[in-house]
Amino acid sequence: MKTFKLFFPVLVLIFLIANCAEKIPQNPPAEKSSLKTAYKDDFYIGAALNRSHINESVPEAAKIIEKEFNTITAENVMKWMHIHPGRDSFNFDLSDKFVALGEKNNMFVIGHTLVWHSQLGRWARDIKEPEEMKVVMENHVSTIVGRYKGKVHGWDVVNEALNEDGTLRKTVFLDVLGEDYLKLAFDLAAKADPEAELYYNDYSLTNPQKRAGVVRLVRQLQESGAKIDGVGMQAHWGLTSPSIEEIETSILEYSALGVKVMFTELDVDVLPNPRSIQGADINQSAENSELLNPYTAGLPDSIQAQQAQRYEDIFRLFLKHQDKITRVTFWGVDDGHSWKNNFPVRGRTNYPLIFDREYRPKEAYVRILGLK
Ligand code: XIL
Repeated sequence: MKTFKLFFPVLVLIFLIANCAEKIPQNPPAEKSSLKTAYKDDFYIGAALNRSHINESVPEAAKIIEKEFNTITAENVMKWMHIHPGRDSFNFDLSDKFVALGEKNNMFVIGHTLVWHSQLGRWARDIKEPEEMKVVMENHVSTIVGRYKGKVHGWDVVNEALNEDGTLRKTVFLDVLGEDYLKLAFDLAAKADPEAELYYNDYSLTNPQKRAGVVRLVRQLQESGAKIDGVGMQAHWGLTSPSIEEIETSILEYSALGVKVMFTELDVDVLPNPRSIQGADINQSAENSELLNPYTAGLPDSIQAQQAQRYEDIFRLFLKHQDKITRVTFWGVDDGHSWKNNFPVRGRTNYPLIFDREYRPKEAYVRILGLK
């Protein structure tokens, strides 16, 4: 009893201190100080890197990449025409540097992309014989995936194989090999690195007909015994379209196939869209005009706010489905170097990303971080 009397005040004191410590506000928690730490329990957050990022030639960009992102995608340097410019020549200078940068920062590294009809290179587009195409594809996939085995963690194995109505797009691969080229691409990638995640990647994947096409394509691959781990929704979106409901339906339908869902090329275009162009087919373009390029002097506050709200709504949805989503990658780092300054109209001033031309975080960045 005596001992209890002696220790009771001490116990009360310990209890009070412990309880108080919990309530005293600490410095802002470290995990809120960057996107990758804020979202670490939800999904990877990343960016597509261009040549100058890979060469770390702009210190402001290098700092953002290291601080904010835990996954990177090669914006161009791993595309066929750059990495495999001639039948017997590969160019790994920049792709090696890209992979090394990811290793240095302990990032989830994405290879983009193995089999795609765009940025393909003339020599491959001219192939006519099925046997020759098979040999070329095997050499392409096994050389590249083999080189980065264990270092590139996920591959966009096939990019943009579908038309807007969900049918298979007419490409040199479909022409020469028929639809078996899809399984062949996935099988070759799985053989070259059995541990790497393998994805089908495309744009406009919220469009109902194309969505149904993806569901068919993934099912067929699964039934054929091919290894497919995820669907990459490019997510080149606008301020109002696609709707949050359309995005949600796609997340649910793709996830129901038993594959991971990821947003692989996210940006939010703030400029008027030329009527003739829908989606992200890089072979399309329209003429520039003053009407199509209204914000050369800066982004008006009202549009900045609208974009911030749009990003917030999108990330709120992503968080709701964080159990299905494994990665969200922005297609670029800062507004000044986004492909959207040249697509679908060349030479415009666009503002699609979450860091501005001076590499400062925009309102959208603050709102995305604020959700955590
Ligand atoms: C774009 C790059 O961002 C540009 O620099 C390049 O000139 C053309 O390609 N879908 C894709 C990406 O899968 O590879 C494209 O990237 C954008 C659309």
